[in-house]
Amino acid sequence: MIRSHRFYDGFAAGRSLRQLLQVGVSFDANQDPQISHPLDWPTLPAYSGDARMMLDAIRWDTDLIRRYDLAGPRYTSYPTAVQFHGQVGSFDLFHALRDSRKALRPLSLYVHVPFCANICYYCACNKVITKDRGRALPYLQRLEQEIQLIACHLDPTQKVEQLHFGGGTPTFLSHDELRQLMAHLRKHFNLLDDDSGDYSIEIDPREADWSTMGLLRELGFNRVSIGLQDLDPAVQRAVNRLQSLEETRAVIDAARTLQFRSINIDLIYGLPKQTPENFARTVEEVISLQPDRLSVFNYAHLPERFMPQRRINSNELPTPTQKLDMLQRTIDQLTAAGYRYIGMDHFALPDDELAMPRKNRPCNVTFRVTPPMVIAI
Ligand SMILES: C[S@@+](CC[C@H](N)C(=O)[O-])C[C@H]1O[C@@H](n2cnc3c(N)ncnc32)[C@H](O)[C@@H]1O
Ligand code: SF4
Repeated sequence: MIRSHRFYDGFAAGRSLRQLLQVGVSFDANQDPQISHPLDWPTLPAYSGDARMMLDAIRWDTDLIRRYDLAGPRYTSYPTAVQFHGQVGSFDLFHALRDSRKALRPLSLYVHVPFCANICYYCACNKVITKDRGRALPYLQRLEQEIQLIACHLDPTQKVEQLHFGGGTPTFLSHDELRQLMAHLRKHFNLLDDDSGDYSIEIDPREADWSTMGLLRELGFNRVSIGLQDLDPAVQRAVNRLQSLEETRAVIDAARTLQFRSINIDLIYGLPKQTPENFARTVEEVISLQPDRLSVFNYAHLPERFMPQRRINSNELPTPTQKLDMLQRTIDQLTAAGYRYIGMDHFALPDDELAMPRKNRPCNVTFRVTPPMVIAI
């Protein structure tokens, strides 16, 4: 039984909502919390309505906030990128593939498309900025080789239950390139044809229109994750990402009409020129779009590691107190609008399956935690 629940932020660069929760949750020692690692937070066993209410109740602890006010890595993958090392050799990979094949395990595939036409100064993703669309071709040729190489170690009947295209900006690729990439994946893997898998793609609304959304649906995608970050014009100028609410709304309208099963929106708090007031307005507008899920990331400012971030004026970044205020208001706004805090920076509407972990069916987070397999260069 969950006894108490604290929620706080470290508020230095990279310290995310999720990291805060790792340290801020405590459990009754007499009960088995079934949480072996802080990152297992989303795999909580079925918890009762009472416990859920308690999860939703947030308490702030200023001492803890101060104590954990340290920079840390972003948990877009686990282990985090800074923990990656070269000690995993080809034999380790072969063994892992053989184990998967022998057990006929279902698969999760992640495909990374690193290209973006424009740079967003805050971006900490693995990306290549170019206006030259021709650069995708040699990448795709190698990606197809990689797909073939991995697939030949697996059983062709293993079902691909999850597929995720991330970036960069996957829709940087032309329609023909997207078609060809999916055809290649289908040729080598057992992709599900009945829409029962979770097939998702990251969408930058500036790089997708109705026809792109139609194509993606036709190719088998049924979930979208939309980058938005902030709607305030001054913030958008400061991070070099000009994106209107209408552009985002158009993509969401298309996704709904085309019956994508789930729509996620990404926001970031802690960006230059953000204030608790203007970020609250962004959150209000986003609530009006009614996404099924929301990711609210704490801005990781690491200019020594990510060169484009040096174009951000650090004097324009909100203070730790302002960030705390933003986080607190965001949680208040989202919970008042009916969203539940899931963990790992995520919020979801109560009828979203993320918000409904059931007994013996933990709510696993793949890609960002433990992908069985990554196909990327
Ligand atoms: C690959 S991008 C999203 C897809 C697409 N390229 C777009 O921008 O819409 C993944 C997400 O990571 C988040 N992100 C990127 N850099 C970040 C940073 N420095 N700190 C926190 N979140 C960041 C943003 O919310 C972004 O939407
Ligand atoms: S946020 Fe998205 S569009 Fe912007 S640079 Fe990063 S990956 Fe590219």
